[in-house]
Amino acid sequence: MNVTVSHDPVSQVQADVLIIPQYEGAPGPAGLGEVLSELISGATQAGDFAGEFGQTALFYTTGLKARKVLLAGLGKPDKVDYPRIRRFAGMTARAARQSGAKTVAFALPAVAGLEAGKVAQFVTEGAMHGLYRFTTFKSDNHQKPNVESLVFVGGPEIDAGVSAGTVLGEATNVTRAVNWLPGNHLTAAVFAEKAVLMAQAAGNIEIEVFDKHGCEQLGLGLLLAVNQGSVEEPRFIVMKYKGNGGNGPWLGLIGKGLTFDSGGISIKPSDSMWDMKYDMSGGGAVLGAMQAIAQFKPKCDVLAIIGATDNLPDGKAYKPGDVIVGLSGKTVEVRSTDAEGRLVLADCVAYAVNQGCAKLVTAATLTGAANIALGPIRMGLVTNNDDWESEVFTAVDEAGERGWRLPHDEEYYDLFKSPIADMSNTGTARAAGTVVGGLFLMKHVGKTPLVHLDIAAQAWKSAEDKYEDAGATGVAVKSFVRIAQRFAEENR
Ligand code: BES
Ligand code: MN
Ligand code: ZN
Repeated sequence: MNVTVSHDPVSQVQADVLIIPQYEGAPGPAGLGEVLSELISGATQAGDFAGEFGQTALFYTTGLKARKVLLAGLGKPDKVDYPRIRRFAGMTARAARQSGAKTVAFALPAVAGLEAGKVAQFVTEGAMHGLYRFTTFKSDNHQKPNVESLVFVGGPEIDAGVSAGTVLGEATNVTRAVNWLPGNHLTAAVFAEKAVLMAQAAGNIEIEVFDKHGCEQLGLGLLLAVNQGSVEEPRFIVMKYKGNGGNGPWLGLIGKGLTFDSGGISIKPSDSMWDMKYDMSGGGAVLGAMQAIAQFKPKCDVLAIIGATDNLPDGKAYKPGDVIVGLSGKTVEVRSTDAEGRLVLADCVAYAVNQGCAKLVTAATLTGAANIALGPIRMGLVTNNDDWESEVFTAVDEAGERGWRLPHDEEYYDLFKSPIADMSNTGTARAAGTVVGGLFLMKHVGKTPLVHLDIAAQAWKSAEDKYEDAGATGVAVKSFVRIAQRFAEENR
């Protein structure tokens, strides 16, 4: 997608469709000429367009360089916030595409109380997000061709926001593209190759990929146990971005990279199994976030890790009841081979601690229970450190994503005690599934502050809506990036 900025008056902007935002109940837009203004007020008077959120009306133009104008409702001014602006942009960009536009221009709205630059950023993110399609495996594309160019129209104060939004929009869509890939196309080895290509293109990311033998040498016993039933080798992917010259402190960003999760010997019911190809969405988010971080260049050091494997049953597979030990040295009794994500992540976080990371954030499609507790609206946050969690919560919010802080009272740790090992990988009952999954990780990091983001209910959208296609959402990319930016500011 080609993204540019125009400082011209709206009448002079060249585009197939020019999108003009309109608040509910506000007088018609200025600067469009007499004829079009009359047509618009006619539509308003007829009750066809009131400016309600997401409402659109298309007009052919006269005297404008744009061929059509799409009037787009923003709703009531006091309800407009950044995430809503992003959704607004996605919806209206899709509506413009529906009318066959190749070039879409966006007049940026002025929103009282919000920064113009950040408004521009969120509009850019939303438009890129809404227009994204995953068509890799469609040989016959009956859909209308996609928009090729986006033009954002406003004063010079929008320039930085549009470019930031473009970086984040591209990074999110890169993540969506890998998260979409099925298990036979995205093996752990292919995942690693994609990370290598991203790092090479970025130019300022060092990357090291450990294969199965490398994982054995590192002592990643938990990751290797999960991989045992697979014919595909695991990959332990480690990236370094040295925005502070490698002097630290280091921020660790870590993602679960289960390229397919069948449940293993504790096999999942088959009807809900197919979409477990997106069980690498936390790892996918790390990949996209590192691409964006390499472009924003925050002044901090970031260690990024993706633990990649699939989880399959086989004669060699790990079994319920097995006792295994990983990098932290703690022993784990396997109650369910389907609680594999926490095993893989536990080795990742232990590695990050050994590498000297000061603070950690993990993102993972870790528990179905996250959907039961919070639904698809907010991701679950679990931590061993309230201050770090409060910092991460703010970053998630500033990134326009949504989280919720779950409890971590000491008693929750009792839920996954084991009679035979240091801990079990599940609770005995299904109580507090998301908390247990997160707290399991805390047992492998000592005192190092860790915030875990459970994105199981956000990473995949089962149905298309006005704002985005069904499928991979790219959640957590923008949060990761914002966390790194704040980490850089904090440690200056
Ligand atoms: N990848 C799943 C969690 C998941 C479920 C993600 C649905 C997205 C949608 C994870 O590995 C898993 O299977 N978790 C188990 C844990 C249980 C065995 C303690 C779960 O949630 O049922
Ligand atoms: Mn599982
Ligand atoms: Zn899983």
